[in-house]
Amino acid sequence: MDASQIECVLEQERQLNEENYRTNWEPRKLDGDAFYTQFARPLRNGGNNHRYPGMKALLDDLLAQGEGPFLDCACGAGEMAIWLALHGKRVWAFDLTEAAIQIARQSAELSGVADRITFDVMDARCLRYEDAFFCAITGKDCLHHLIKYPGAIDELARVLKPGGKACFYEPLAFNPLINALRYINIHLRGYVGEHMLTREDVRQLGTAFGDAQLSHHAVLSVWTRFIASMHEPLRGVRRRICMTLIDLDEFAQAHLPFLERFSACAYMQLVKRP
Ligand SMILES: C[S@@+](CC[C@H](N)C(=O)[O-])C[C@H]1O[C@@H](n2cnc3c(N)ncnc32)[C@H](O)[C@@H]1O
Repeated sequence: MDASQIECVLEQERQLNEENYRTNWEPRKLDGDAFYTQFARPLRNGGNNHRYPGMKALLDDLLAQGEGPFLDCACGAGEMAIWLALHGKRVWAFDLTEAAIQIARQSAELSGVADRITFDVMDARCLRYEDAFFCAITGKDCLHHLIKYPGAIDELARVLKPGGKACFYEPLAFNPLINALRYINIHLRGYVGEHMLTREDVRQLGTAFGDAQLSHHAVLSVWTRFIASMHEPLRGVRRRICMTLIDLDEFAQAHLPFLERFSACAYMQLVKRP
């Protein structure tokens, strides 16, 4: 894409997100445990999210990383930032979409952590933070939006301290069947800006930061999203099938690492070269 096409894509993505956040989201009081349960204890506790156990690994890692400062990039409605603040971290968070940041600020007020988070409307390509300001960076479903904008990844690497860790949970473009289903879904729903991460993207991320490790690959467990509803507890046979798929992924991770080449999502750790 040339520079004018990139600006055009960015503007489309911004407008679509403005409308989405204004229409479908509203400020709410968050509690630290609810966010953790939504992503890190699904299925086993009546929740049901196909991102388990990669999201659990990400959230556990973040909790172990001191008080901050943390950066939540492309934070959307600010749920991850608020969760971190509820656990005593000092957090900065940014997003391109003004409506998302307004909701995030109001949710932080309602949750009693507004004094621990600085939310800003910002484009990832030109961050207004000092070099090496953050001890840790995080993001959920964000790198696959940011990577197509030249300069955005270098900006994230710039603001992370040497030796600091950037932790993301991201969709990957490794599985052709999932890619085909996503392609249909993206076109049916009129999404803009989706670019699932390819192996080349992962290499690029490793080069920008120094090291990129993928783990907790969702190969079979990704299919739980077609069996489990996001909103109802899972019971009976459906629950057993989902648990089996998750357990098979955990087994594959330990014993059949070549299956990673069919991964649809994973936990990604980027460590900045000291
Ligand atoms: C799929 S949403 C994820 C939001 C949030 N991380 C979450 O998990 O709910 C992707 C977000 O990326 C943001 N975004 C896209 N391009 C961006 C850019 N160039 N700079 C900053 N944010 C951007 C969008 O506004 C949107 O909120």
